[in-house]
Amino acid sequence: MKGFIFDLDGVIVDTAKYHYLAWKNLADHLGIDFTSEDNEKFKGVSRKRCLELLLEMGNLEVSDEQFNAWLEEKNEDYLKYIGGMDASEILPEVPRVLNYLREKDVPMALGSASKNAVRILEKVGLTEYFETVVDGTQVVKAKPDPEVFLIAASRLGLSPEACVVVEDAQAGIAAANSAGMYSLGIGETEVLSEADTVFRDFTEMQASFLDEVLQLERK
Ligand code: G6P
Ligand code: MG
Repeated sequence: MKGFIFDLDGVIVDTAKYHYLAWKNLADHLGIDFTSEDNEKFKGVSRKRCLELLLEMGNLEVSDEQFNAWLEEKNEDYLKYIGGMDASEILPEVPRVLNYLREKDVPMALGSASKNAVRILEKVGLTEYFETVVDGTQVVKAKPDPEVFLIAASRLGLSPEACVVVEDAQAGIAAANSAGMYSLGIGETEVLSEADTVFRDFTEMQASFLDEVLQLERK
C-alpha cells in the first residue's frame, strides 16, 4: 500500500451529531419521527439521498421545488452548527496518525460525500495534510459507488490497489472494496463486517499496524 484516502465525517471529525440535529429539526418541522438510530442510515450518504430517505419515512411526496427548499433549509441549519467548529473537534489521535504518515511521505487524500468538506477541514486546521480533496461537489455517483475514491487515487497518481481507505460508513467500506482498495473501518466490527480491518477509533491504529499495511502488496 502506498497511499491513504480518508473519509471526513465520522473519521476525522464527529459531525454526525450536527447532521443529526439538523435532520431532526427538519423532521420535527415535517412531523416525521427521527431517531439517532435512523441517523445511522444517513452516514456516508449524500444530502439529497438523506432527504429522500427522510421523506420515505414520512410517506411524503413533494415537488422538486419544495424538495430543494428543504435541502437548503437543512444545510443552512447544519452550517450554523458547524460554524463554531475548531481543532478541539478533531477525533482522538487523528493528528498522531496523520503526522506519522506525513513523516513517512505517504500521500494522503480526503474522499468525502460532503459538499461542506473543504470548509470543515479549514475550520479544524487539517487542510495542509491532504494532497487533494475529493468531495460531494465533484462526484456524480455517491458511495457505495467507488467514484470518489477512484478520483482520489488517480489524483494521488496511485493505482486503486495501492490505496487504503479509512471509513466509518457501510456505504464507504462497500465503495472502497468495489474499487479494489484496502478498507479500514472505524467503528463497530458488527456494522463494518465487510472491512479488511476494523478499529474502534484511531487510538487503536498503532504505528506497527500502519507499517504493516504499508508493506502489504496487492495485485
Ligand atoms: C457525509 C456524512 C453524511 C452526509 C454527507 C453529505 O458523508 O456522513 O451524513 O449526508 O456527508 O454532507 P453535506 O455536508 O454535503 O450535507
Ligand atoms: Mg463518514
